[in-house]
Amino acid sequence: MARHAHSASPTDVDAIESGDAGIGVSLARIGKIMSRPELKRWRPVMVLALLLTLASKVFAVYAPVFFGDAINEMTGTDAAMAAVILLLAWWTGARLLSANLPYLRDALFAPVSQDAQRLVAVEAYGHAQGLSLAFHQTRRTGALNRVIDRGVAALDYLIRFLAFNIGPTLIELALAAYVLTTRYSWIAAVIAVATVALYAVFTGVLTGWRAEQRRKLNAADTELRALAVDSLTNFETVKAFAAETRETERYDAAMQTYNRNMVDVSRSLALLNAGQDIIMALGLTAVAGITALATFNGQVQAGDMAAVVLIMSNLYRPLSVLGWAFREIKQGAIDLEKLYGLLNMKPDVQDAPDAKPLVVKGGEVRFDGVSFTHDARSAGIDGVSFTVPAGTKLAVVGPSGSGKSTLLKLLFRFYDTKGGRVVVDGQDVRGLQQESLRDAIGLVPQDVVLFNASMRENVLYGRPDASDAELREAATRAQLIEFIDRLPNGWETRVGERGVKLSGGERQRVGIARAILKNPAILVLDEATSALDSATEQEVQGALDEAAKGRTTIMVAHRLSTVAGADEIIVLDAGKIVERGTHRELLDRGGLYADLWSRQSRAHEDANAMVAERVA
Ligand SMILES: Nc1ncnc2c1ncn2[C@@H]1O[C@H](COP(=O)(O)OP(=O)(O)O)[C@@H](O)[C@H]1O
Ligand SMILES: [Mg+2]
Repeated sequence: MARHAHSASPTDVDAIESGDAGIGVSLARIGKIMSRPELKRWRPVMVLALLLTLASKVFAVYAPVFFGDAINEMTGTDAAMAAVILLLAWWTGARLLSANLPYLRDALFAPVSQDAQRLVAVEAYGHAQGLSLAFHQTRRTGALNRVIDRGVAALDYLIRFLAFNIGPTLIELALAAYVLTTRYSWIAAVIAVATVALYAVFTGVLTGWRAEQRRKLNAADTELRALAVDSLTNFETVKAFAAETRETERYDAAMQTYNRNMVDVSRSLALLNAGQDIIMALGLTAVAGITALATFNGQVQAGDMAAVVLIMSNLYRPLSVLGWAFREIKQGAIDLEKLYGLLNMKPDVQDAPDAKPLVVKGGEVRFDGVSFTHDARSAGIDGVSFTVPAGTKLAVVGPSGSGKSTLLKLLFRFYDTKGGRVVVDGQDVRGLQQESLRDAIGLVPQDVVLFNASMRENVLYGRPDASDAELREAATRAQLIEFIDRLPNGWETRVGERGVKLSGGERQRVGIARAILKNPAILVLDEATSALDSATEQEVQGALDEAAKGRTTIMVAHRLSTVAGADEIIVLDAGKIVERGTHRELLDRGGLYADLWSRQSRAHEDANAMVAERVA
């Protein structure tokens, strides 16, 4: 029945997109959601909604009975006008109620449904936010939103179809059978039930067959669109190769495939509808014939025949959407299951049950024989040990891919180490509440990414409760204030998506202001200036030095000139520390660091010489 995603690994995003479950599982899930304590205040409304639905079905079955009785009364031997009018009034009332109670129910139920949807959406969103870095690195953008949106919508229409449509229709069928048996003839009841059963089976089989046709149609549609987009975006190539006709022919071929599939789908729909109508017509004819015979035998009256036929045709209306409802319910069950796949994912880095908040004593950082690998890759971190005493600066240098960023992520405990320990102020990070650990660390990454909001909101992200004075102070120390004051809209300037309306240097300074505002004991700089040109780098470096004052600082840098002042420098290569010491000591050693240093200074001199030559 169900391929549950319960045991999905936290990085297995595809698992959340392959949910599948039976209707029973979905019903159980919906039942659980609707009985949540948060929705308790809606319980009377839920009960009322069900009662209204049932009542509408009772009226739907009894309206024809009143109508039939009215005919019987009229055609009877001692017809009484008043009785006929009364019965017709009953008939009208019952019809009005059966048609309109569902609207009343929908109006009453709307806020319940919305509340339930919000509950589940917020829970799923919060849960996704809380999943580990590895999950977010692997997931496809948009996929997560889709899972949440569809799952939440599925909750709504599953309730609608199961509780307000299919379920009540079954009850209506039972009630109709009961009324037919007791008031008219059990044979009519048997025919009614058999017709409906045949109708449902026929619809189910054809819907299954049509699902395959629809899948093909969708595939053809996707193909057609992809082809058109691909060809139109490659217009230069198409033109250069004079391939316009060829491209148009390809489009025509794809279009033909699509058309063929569309014809199949239309024809099968016609067949489905025709079959449904034939089954229903035969059923109606059968009951009409049976009751007509009984009328001649004098067992029932003319009005009874009208009632029986009307009861039967009433059953037809909810059934006509059965095929569609069937498909929607199936899809809803799948969507809901995906949502639960997401909700059942566990973050791979979790707080221990007895996790304690970090007690910050100054911000000493110690790596104790730390090892780590990503997935199955061999490269990673291999037995790295160092200590950064509180308030000092450690620089990490090394070739790209040597594991510098990974080292920093281990400090944040975005991943758990495979060996060794990461210790902050004497406390193993595995025993800490992640939130308290991350509160104590400020990060300025290589590319500061901003929210598409105002300057103020972006800087405030470092500490949302900061005062205006603190905000200004942080911006001043980050050398950002002059820039902000020059902007026509000042702090309220919007920075564009991901901060595209700012230059790289400005974005970095916003990142630094954020870190200063956060006022962490430990500051982490991951190539915070590497993406900048050297003039801007020097400016931003000043802001960084200011931010690092009085804090433990771990900086990863590409240009060695920026790390020369560090208390200790470690040189990382393929995840191992290959050299360590101060700038002076490392130069004297004449190893990898000295080599890098001389290459970088030479490059610098060459560049200067080149400029001088051009100018001369
Ligand atoms: N999320 C990830 N999944 C798998 N491998 C990764 C991931 N992040 C980094 N790596 C790999 O780990 C190695 C170290 O990466 P990183 O720490 O980013 O290097 P650096 O910052 O020194 O340039 C690289 O080989 C990189 O390809
Ligand atoms: Mg890196």
